[in-house]
Amino acid sequence: MTDQPTADQPVDDPQWKKDFPYESAGEDEVTRREFTRFLAYASIALAGSGGLMALAASLRPANVGPERLIMSIDDIPPGRSKLFRYPTDKDPAIIVRTELNEVVAFSQKCTHLGCVVFWDIETFEFECPCHEGFFSVAGEAIAGPPERPLTRIDTVIRDREVWAVGISGGSH
Ligand code: FES
Repeated sequence: MTDQPTADQPVDDPQWKKDFPYESAGEDEVTRREFTRFLAYASIALAGSGGLMALAASLRPANVGPERLIMSIDDIPPGRSKLFRYPTDKDPAIIVRTELNEVVAFSQKCTHLGCVVFWDIETFEFECPCHEGFFSVAGEAIAGPPERPLTRIDTVIRDREVWAVGISGGSH
């Protein structure tokens, strides 16, 4: 005769249960195998969702935003700025005519805490008055608390009309 338990006899508890004889409701309902299976499924689900997110990011066009007419380039002289809205009517933006036929455009939202930036024609820089943040004409953070560049709005000039054609840089 062996000491193997039969179906009628309870299996002896493992040593750890004898050492720590505390019981909780439903502790026998989850076996180690079920828990391992759960971990395996959760790992697969996480890996799958990560892959899908990477795929979605790679498929998303780098340049987002509709085309929108901003102004005629002759509306402002070189060195001056004009405010507009892009990509929606709720998004303040600013454009500067830097040269005779060149412009730069950015979201007006400061990348520190979101105040609006203004163009300073004297220093040829963007300034955020909230905490004295400064950005170069290229939108780079150059002084004060902002660490990230302004969000760039891509533009094209067609027949002296300046169009916003998307957002491709900075923090959206
Ligand atoms: S919000 Fe622009 S510097 Fe703080």
